[in-house]
Amino acid sequence: MVVATVSYLLFAGCNGSPFQPSPPNVIFPDSNVSFRLHVQPFLRRGCALVGCHDRGGRSGGVVLEEYAHLWERPGLVVPGEPDASVLQQILEARLPHQPDPRELSTDNQRRGVRRWIAEGARYN
Ligand code: HEM
Repeated sequence: MVVATVSYLLFAGCNGSPFQPSPPNVIFPDSNVSFRLHVQPFLRRGCALVGCHDRGGRSGGVVLEEYAHLWERPGLVVPGEPDASVLQQILEARLPHQPDPRELSTDNQRRGVRRWIAEGARYN
């Protein structure tokens, strides 16, 4: 019931207007991507919204708030292998997902997460 209410508020918006997905304001560097400076703020503001991938929502069994959450689901992140990582496949719409992650992220952010995984997906 709570999730339904939160999801309704999320999709319907506080004032009844439709849910307006937009990328968070996080810019990734071309290399030496930091989990704490870049990846975590992006995931928290773009994905771990209330009722979605926060601890309460746990949509699709996936929480995207803390580094430790990324290892709870096998294959979500495969260090050094962005193409084998479900997180990257979802971000690049190579797996189905609603809302469309391309509306929740910029090209810079999608490339930035890919770079972080390729650099070893460290807690840096
Ligand atoms: C760019 C941000 C996001 C990323 C990276 C992301 C990533 C994911 C991943 C990895 C899964 C699991 C897919 C699987 O098991 O194959 C998933 C499922 C899901 N996500 Fe997201 N998500 C994002 C944003 C959101 C938002 C904002 C919402 C809510 C409005 C949401 C709702 C869901 C739902 C409902 C599922 C389950 C889908 C199903 O069972 O078919 N996600 N997401």
